[in-house]
Amino acid sequence: WEGLDGKPVRQRLLVVANRLPVSAHRLKEDSWALEISAGGLVSALLGVKEFEARWIGWAGVNVPDEAGKKALTKALAEKRCIPVFLDEEIVHQYYNGYCNNILWPLFHYLGLPQEDRLATTRSFQSQFAAYKKANKMFADVVHEHYEEGDVIWCHDYHLMFLPKCLKEQNRNMKVGWFLHTPFPSSEIHRTLPSRSELLRAVLDADLVGFHTYDYARHFVSACTRILGLEGTPEGVEDQGRLTRVAAFPIGIDSERFIRALELPQVQADIKGLKERFSGRKVMLGVDRLDMIKGIPQKLLAFEKFLEENAHWHEKVVLLQIAVPTRTDVPEYQKLTSQVHEIVGRINGRFGTISAVPIHHLDRSLDFHALCALYAVTDIALVTSLRDGMNLVSYEFVACQDSKKGVLILSEFAGAAQSLGAGAILVNPWNITEVAAAIGQALDMSPEEREKRHRHNFSHVTTHTAQEWAETFVSELNDTVIEAQQRIRK
Ligand code: G6P
Repeated sequence: WEGLDGKPVRQRLLVVANRLPVSAHRLKEDSWALEISAGGLVSALLGVKEFEARWIGWAGVNVPDEAGKKALTKALAEKRCIPVFLDEEIVHQYYNGYCNNILWPLFHYLGLPQEDRLATTRSFQSQFAAYKKANKMFADVVHEHYEEGDVIWCHDYHLMFLPKCLKEQNRNMKVGWFLHTPFPSSEIHRTLPSRSELLRAVLDADLVGFHTYDYARHFVSACTRILGLEGTPEGVEDQGRLTRVAAFPIGIDSERFIRALELPQVQADIKGLKERFSGRKVMLGVDRLDMIKGIPQKLLAFEKFLEENAHWHEKVVLLQIAVPTRTDVPEYQKLTSQVHEIVGRINGRFGTISAVPIHHLDRSLDFHALCALYAVTDIALVTSLRDGMNLVSYEFVACQDSKKGVLILSEFAGAAQSLGAGAILVNPWNITEVAAAIGQALDMSPEEREKRHRHNFSHVTTHTAQEWAETFVSELNDTVIEAQQRIRK
């Protein structure tokens, strides 16, 4: 963008997401420690030079007192972050309830939690009310900080009501909404009691984005079948007003990973890991401990592989990093116990005094340790039952230019559409197929590995997070300009 004097101007971008890119820990009454979490979205936006981005979101902590709120707001301002304060009750009903117990499983085709299906049905209305209330709270904070010309980019299933709240306050705001999860088939979406209200609220955005063409198509058909609106190649039309709908596949900041591999500390870690696992093939899983990631299914497939391939015992190890998440939601608590039980059983069955087949870690690793692990891995196992994109597969590929390891990838991850030609694609529900894929990956010739890696590496290094963010925001600007021109005509 150019200013009146022809010089490029930095446009202000307000990024609104449920969670801020920093986690906050209270040290004293009025002092906070902040830790930046370098997720995909953060690095995507750091690389976008045209914008001056501010973040609006929840800091992930309950701050009941005014002094604490004031101090946290001040500390966050230095990181260009603006907090939305949610009290415990709202977090319980909106975040744990409607977002993570209803929308999240539904959008990933897992339905409602089995045992408390009826309880969930009963509490649905109050949770939906809390969801709308929370979205309104986000909108109020946006309003306080909005300046004419700002671009507002709303993220994810937590904030489907936000475009509506924003436009109600100011029709002229440029509003984009992006979903990081799959959008399910309209037949799944229509089971949601608040199906129409949510779709209508999203349609108030000027541009609606998804990771894949399929998710965009499902969204458009939900709008045509449930709301009776018209779907066009451009998006969804309602009484002459068009909401643009399109696919914008996210990527990673691949350079950051490639550069990290050169650091002495990472090189030292790589050396240490190679020594530690010498004589064994290393398989790696890195997931949030979430039911959508298919961790139990992955473990069962590995168990089957060990059952059928005695000659690989003690020659292969699976390192599973399972990062705890949403630990207040009962489904996640059950999953943790289930995973521990399966890991214990497999290690009991196939372990020896000198080696266990699975190293399972219930925690995250820092960025550099993770890069080293990716670099020494022979086979990465991504077995999501559904996944919006899955950037672990991208990160693995970025760190594999020397080793050229094999990626086993679920066909139900968005990444299967971009890395499918280089990966071995599997149906994660079919443990016989995944066990066979492990065998195929272990026996793959160096030439075949090289060919597959080349394909994926060139995709990952050319379709970056920065490019994703730039494309979305420039499309949003264009969409708004076109709409204004249409109205003038
Ligand atoms: C997914 C969602 C994100 C979310 C992340 C971590 O990737 O799409 O919006 O931030 O999970 O989940 P959490 O509930 O810890 O924020």
